Amino acid sequence: MKEAITDMQAKKKLMIVTYGCQMNVYDSIKMADLMRPFGYEQTEQVSEADMVILNTCNIREKAAEKVYSELGRIKQFKDKKKANGNNMLIAVAGCVSQAEGDEIFKRAPFVDIVVGPQSFATLPELVTKIIRDHDKHAINLDFVSDSKFDALPEEAAPQGFSAFLTIQEGCDVFCKYCIVPYTRGAEFSRPVEQIYREANRLVEQGAKEITLLGQNVSAYHGISTEGEISLPKLIKILAKISGLERIRYTTSHPSDINEEFFEIHGSEPKLMPFLHLPVQSGSNKILKDMNRKYTREQYFYAIENLRKARPDLSFSSDFIVGYPGETDQDFEDTMDLVRHVNFAQSYSFKYSKRPGTPAAIMDNQVPERIKAERLAKLQELISFQQTEFNKNSIGLIMPVLFEKTGKYDGQYVGKTPYMQSVHVKSETNLIGKILDVKISELFSNSLAAELVKEDA
Ligand code: 5AD
Ligand code: SF4
Repeated sequence: MKEAITDMQAKKKLMIVTYGCQMNVYDSIKMADLMRPFGYEQTEQVSEADMVILNTCNIREKAAEKVYSELGRIKQFKDKKKANGNNMLIAVAGCVSQAEGDEIFKRAPFVDIVVGPQSFATLPELVTKIIRDHDKHAINLDFVSDSKFDALPEEAAPQGFSAFLTIQEGCDVFCKYCIVPYTRGAEFSRPVEQIYREANRLVEQGAKEITLLGQNVSAYHGISTEGEISLPKLIKILAKISGLERIRYTTSHPSDINEEFFEIHGSEPKLMPFLHLPVQSGSNKILKDMNRKYTREQYFYAIENLRKARPDLSFSSDFIVGYPGETDQDFEDTMDLVRHVNFAQSYSFKYSKRPGTPAAIMDNQVPERIKAERLAKLQELISFQQTEFNKNSIGLIMPVLFEKTGKYDGQYVGKTPYMQSVHVKSETNLIGKILDVKISELFSNSLAAELVKEDA
């Protein structure tokens, strides 16, 4: 297999464009790891790319449509290369591939490869089909029967000081608006030992922070030597890795957040006090219609107990406005929930019909104009809360993980436990260090701070 591609040509350039969630970011990292042994080095310049992979997202219509406009742009570069006697492979990976399959070839015949989120380990074979066998198109959308992770290479390029680790994939909840169970498939938890090995390797390669990823990460139930274990137990195991300083996990489902989660947030200092816990709506009627499996009261209960366990814990959430059947009162219930919880940050979206999902064919769709009005109102409140949260950080001392240099000389940029971007000035190089800073000023997208100890 390896020879098949490398025979064709030696060094080549690969550009990967990633859309959507952090799971896709992780998959893109793995795609680069998969193609590297075949001579493909990454580039960010489409003009020099021998292969372009679009790792796509299908969560809302807008995200999916973006793929076709981007493909049109890339085609121009492919045509230019062709005119000079060279080739550019174009692969569409990710959730749009899974949902649309070979329709993509019909709409964009210049695409060479279509591969899904479960089957991208076969990318090298698909590339061989095009380059060596001169197939016009190559496609693989199989759902692997056991684990796609077994087929991925263990060798990996370092991810840096903050790394992603997918521990769980797919979802069995079937919220009625959501495409994920159809694109990512059934729920699957990776075995503990495999995760532990990967976490250790990431730390050896320099990671100080690991974000555990999964579409429904709180449903994690991976096999260990002691049988199946939950996410809080996994966190306890990983927290013992020396050199690993920060652990995060995303995305959770509120109905999984039980006593065990309260306990781990209260007892494990490496677990960051910031939790993304999407609620989607504040109306019990809409939550029921969405098949979310919890009430607003149960959501409040989880938030209250998490805060009791860890008083400095802050929350972010996702919201959908204009779900079929949402009335003004239902929307007011959402606004009320937001006021009640007070989020540090939130993402909000107009409901978007996804073909094949139950909500897409409901006949009580909300008109676009009303969706837009509700979204604007909600976003105003969310943005107010976010600004207040950031303002309240001024004067506080917080540990920051420094990851890169800033725009100006001697400036370093890092993240607080709450994912706020912070910049400080320093004479010494701070990259890779976790240091206490005192927050001094609020800018539109970041905070300025000073080091607490100058001799860091
Ligand atoms: N329409 C709008 N937003 C959606 N999301 C998921 N499906 C849809 C949809 N059909 C949002 C949810 C989810 C986030 C990742 O995207 O809020 O938490
Ligand atoms: Fe987008 Fe969902 Fe697929 Fe992530 S899992 S890429 S959010 S559709």
